[in-house]
Amino acid sequence: MKFTRVLFKIVPKNIKGKSTNEQRWLKRQLNDRYVKQSKTDYYRCRSAYKLIEIDDKHRILEPGFSVVDCGASPGSWSQVAVKKVNADGSIPNAKIGQVIGIDLKSIEKIKGATFFSCSDFTEAVVQQKVLKTLNCGKADVVLSDMAPNSSGVRSLDHENIMVLCESVVKFSINVLNDGGHFLVKILQGEKQDLLLRGLKTCFEQVKYIKPPASRSDSTELYIIAKNFNKAS
Ligand SMILES: C[S@@+](CC[C@H](N)C(=O)[O-])C[C@H]1O[C@@H](n2cnc3c(N)ncnc32)[C@H](O)[C@@H]1O
Repeated sequence: MKFTRVLFKIVPKNIKGKSTNEQRWLKRQLNDRYVKQSKTDYYRCRSAYKLIEIDDKHRILEPGFSVVDCGASPGSWSQVAVKKVNADGSIPNAKIGQVIGIDLKSIEKIKGATFFSCSDFTEAVVQQKVLKTLNCGKADVVLSDMAPNSSGVRSLDHENIMVLCESVVKFSINVLNDGGHFLVKILQGEKQDLLLRGLKTCFEQVKYIKPPASRSDSTELYIIAKNFNKAS
């Protein structure tokens, strides 16, 4: 995917009355090449390009796959996943996949995806609903872009996201087909290596990745774990 170089920065209008943080956010949004591209490509947010870049490099999504997308709102990862696994049947003569998204917030409909909006993924009852909806009760890929609301305290944000990671790892071990893949967002901190080592016991390839679309000034990082081996 190519982006044209921006020669002049766009300065937002009507920023009077906004806090310094809001002004900074607005300026960054207006000048962000991924934000601009997402409007052209009809993605709900710039996060779409993180999954696109990850999949272009690591190949985790294929037509016919069943995908669980945890923390799916507003829905850009699900938009990407639906196309890649052919959940909407738009790739002729290819297997039809499935995408199930879950989020605390509401998620607008996407053709080919099933959503559990206003649902806390860490709750057993929600995970049961996902299991029942999955074809054969199994998934080929579990994605988690879940993130707690930022507290502004780096160590606390790390702790909070690790609680979400723990829940999604347990779920994945239960639900993934042999050879399945797992992708999870973390915010960097002291427990990240423990999670990486744990995943190495049941996936063949496990590593940290930071796609170009993930902002360099953010502590956000992803762990990709490929080829699940249930017997290990
Ligand atoms: C960065 S956003 C995800 C963006 C999404 N991947 C996309 O491309 O549209 C993180 C999401 O995680 C959700 N989230 C946080 N904790 C959650 C939980 N316990 N259960 C479900 N969703 C959760 C938030 O509501 C938020 O919408």
